[in-house]
Amino acid sequence: MSPDALLSWRKEFPILEHTTYLISHSLGAMPRRAAGALQQFAETWASRGIRAWEEGWWEMPLAIGDLIGSIIGAGPGQVVMHQNVSICQWIAASCFDWKGPRNKIVTDGLNFPSNDYIYHGLERQGARVCRVASPDGMTLPLELMLAAIDEQTQLVSVSHVAFRSSFVQDLAAITRRAHEAGALVIADLYQSAGTLPVDVRALGVDFATGGAVKWLCGGPGAGYLYVRADLLPRLEPAATGWMAHRHPFEFEPGPIDFAPDAYRFLNGTPSVPALYAARSGCEIVNQIGVEAIRAKSIRQTQRLIELADEAGMRVRSCRDARARGGVVVVDVPNGEEVTRELARREVLVDYRPGAGIRMAPHFYTADEELERAIGEIRAIVDGGLIR
Ligand SMILES: Cc1ncc(COP(=O)(O)O)c(C=O)c1O
Repeated sequence: MSPDALLSWRKEFPILEHTTYLISHSLGAMPRRAAGALQQFAETWASRGIRAWEEGWWEMPLAIGDLIGSIIGAGPGQVVMHQNVSICQWIAASCFDWKGPRNKIVTDGLNFPSNDYIYHGLERQGARVCRVASPDGMTLPLELMLAAIDEQTQLVSVSHVAFRSSFVQDLAAITRRAHEAGALVIADLYQSAGTLPVDVRALGVDFATGGAVKWLCGGPGAGYLYVRADLLPRLEPAATGWMAHRHPFEFEPGPIDFAPDAYRFLNGTPSVPALYAARSGCEIVNQIGVEAIRAKSIRQTQRLIELADEAGMRVRSCRDARARGGVVVVDVPNGEEVTRELARREVLVDYRPGAGIRMAPHFYTADEELERAIGEIRAIVDGGLIR
């Protein structure tokens, strides 16, 4: 087998020195250089004070957005940074009027709960939420999604890769159907971007959300929102703030006069330290390229499945690599307690009720770590340590 060139990145991630880190679907490992970036934030604040706003801080939500844009196929100035996906989804959904006949929101049954909470919140403004249930809690047949989209649909919300099961949805087909019906699509890329190649412009999605904390190794507090360029001038988010104003420093009272560009999707003061932290991971993912990350991920998730099969564990992820994102889910008795015991043994994974133990190799994962993780699960389960 050819040597794994991506392993050269391991030294850039301190936690890998002592921990089997299979949890990048939740919190990507911290790049060593992120500590330097946070130090740089502190020094800038200390030495430049308020001048820092004019020396880069003001533009940071778009500058970091551009770094993410090149990972997801967006053009410059098409991605803005916020604190998290929940707020990005809220901003996008707040662009619409739900009182007319086109008031339906179709949401996939594998969507992240925050997104659904937001859509249900819009019911008080007249929205009708249609949740397309997953028959098995893990996958969602494309036909069910397509059939739910009709001429009354205004917004279709799809999780590209489902958080619980890592099932990959056919964003292209769903977007085509939505557009035929006159609806717009908001894609949640949180579990895909950085581990699965995504091209928002080729797909034609209208909005996309995600964040730096997981596969992009950018730490918490840096969510992103992509908006299709030609939609931009006609969208007016109700969830807004002074940074979205055409002339923010005129502090005009009354209704907002929106900025003509992506600034119109910002609101108040950005989370500057989180944006400093996010830069390194995004640069590294850009440098490696998601095609290479995906190729390795397919190989290692396949290997994890083989190891779990050999150990007699129930694998709940799709066996077809095309329908499987970066995570492998195995269901063992007392999975939650097993996960806690694994952490005590320096193997980091997580557990989701209704699914099982989620394990995610990333570009920095060594093959031996897959064997170690499955071996430890087996030892814990077979050893009767957890009852
Ligand atoms: C697919 C997906 N969407 C949204 C979220 C929530 O994101 P946030 O905490 O940034 O709102 C998660 C978090 O795990 C997720 O996996």
